[in-house]
Amino acid sequence: SGKLAPDYVLRPLQLSDYRAGVLEVLKDLTTVGDISEERFTEQFEYMRARQGEYFVIIIEKIATGNVVGVGSLLVERKFIHECGLVGHIEDIAVAKSEQGKKLGIKIIGALDFIGKKIGCYKIILDCSPHNEQFYVKCGYSNAGFEMTKRF
Ligand code: ACO
Repeated sequence: SGKLAPDYVLRPLQLSDYRAGVLEVLKDLTTVGDISEERFTEQFEYMRARQGEYFVIIIEKIATGNVVGVGSLLVERKFIHECGLVGHIEDIAVAKSEQGKKLGIKIIGALDFIGKKIGCYKIILDCSPHNEQFYVKCGYSNAGFEMTKRF
């Protein structure tokens, strides 16, 4: 998907991203709630300890030091497909003021790269019909329905 513009950097999530606004970016996606730095740190350490399972990446705007984009890849181990790996792309968000600058497509491209490199035989994700064309531009295709039960 080409090179990231020079005024941005794409990198793994780090603890200091709490203060750099990663949760504010996720608020554009859905309810985040009131998360203390301590709670964020706990969750971050849980993910970090599970090497090869959680990959959370962010895009930082160098001029401000703020997080302007985020996305996750979760790696699921299966019995089927010879104990294969399936990647799940989750929680993609780009700050409103930074949308339409190809940052979203860069995040998906980076997560695809990781998933392929670690050996996932496919990557799947759920999205609203409103975002379908974005994912089509990222090389994904519609493969059916999403079913949900909320608790
Ligand atoms: N409908 C149609 N086309 C779109 C849409 C859309 N909703 N969003 C982006 N595109 C197109 C762009 O026009 C661009 O096309 P081009 O290459 O022909 O110019 C291409 O897709 C790439 O777009 P980007 O600029 O990389 O997209 P952006 O950085 O704005 O990120 C995103 C897209 C992540 C959907 C952003 O709009 C966003 O954060 N929205 C709010 C949160 C959200 O809905 N996240 C996705 C949830 S689904 C999930 O997490 C698995």
